[in-house]
Amino acid sequence: MSARLQGRTALVTGSTGGIGEAVARALAAEGAHVVVSGRDTARGEKVVASIAERGGQATFVQADLADGLPAVTALAAAAHRLAGGPLDILVNNAAMLIEPRPTAEVEEDLIDRALAVNIKAAFLLTGLVAPAMAERGSGAVINMGSINGLFGLGGSALYSTTKAAVHSLTKSWADEYGPSGVRVNTVAPGPTFTDKIAAMADYLAPMIAAIPSRRPSTPEEVAAAVVFLAGDDAANIHGATLSVDGGRAAV
Ligand SMILES: NC(=O)c1ccc[n+]([C@@H]2O[C@H](COP(=O)([O-])OP(=O)(O)OC[C@H]3O[C@@H](n4cnc5c(N)ncnc54)[C@H](OP(=O)(O)O)[C@@H]3O)[C@@H](O)[C@H]2O)c1
Repeated sequence: MSARLQGRTALVTGSTGGIGEAVARALAAEGAHVVVSGRDTARGEKVVASIAERGGQATFVQADLADGLPAVTALAAAAHRLAGGPLDILVNNAAMLIEPRPTAEVEEDLIDRALAVNIKAAFLLTGLVAPAMAERGSGAVINMGSINGLFGLGGSALYSTTKAAVHSLTKSWADEYGPSGVRVNTVAPGPTFTDKIAAMADYLAPMIAAIPSRRPSTPEEVAAAVVFLAGDDAANIHGATLSVDGGRAAV
């Protein structure tokens, strides 16, 4: 274990699986005490146990981010209690992935839920966490964007819109909180083979064929970018989008 984040505290939303789990593991491997969060307590406790087995520190806090302000307030309060004050690192990672479908077939309820989980929860949580960081004069917020937030993609209007909003929030928050020492940045993965996404390999094959590296990202590669932006090596990086997409956004 190295120690680039020794003594720091981090909250990673949506870290009971997928990319968020890899982020939680990577932050803990650098010495951070990580608050793991998501809806599924059993999976969350499993992530915490496996971090502890490797000598890291983690605590699970259950939260359903679709439940709006009360749920987000409870999560922020629990994370602040565990941190004993302002957090050092917030990773707004949780999101609903949405199966591609024509715009006319997207139900209103799905639109409401996607906006609530992918945008509103990160908005409210940052509003509860970043001001305390700003008052202390330091902190790092990393928003999980997506290549889908950078390009148009037919059939993906709803998901892509939520990710484009996340990219926009990073820029506004960099301006709002940067002068107080809080750095806000985006990590924008391309197709990343979590277990769930790897099961869609056939659907993604044409997209992956257009990637300069000709392969998807791994969750660990995305997590490494988060660790970089969370730590002191990124001390003067504000409002940036760090793509982890094999070069796809460049071509
Ligand atoms: N995988 C990719 O190819 C890819 C590419 C670009 C960007 N991204 C972005 O990377 C992030 C993670 O994606 P992923 O592929 O790892 O997704 P995933 O495997 O579906 O994991 C999503 C995580 O978010 C949590 N979550 C979902 N709904 C929630 C809710 N209502 N309240 C609280 N937690 C909730 C899930 O935990 P529970 O089930 O326990 O609630 C899970 O831990 C997302 O922001 C996604 O947009 C992914």
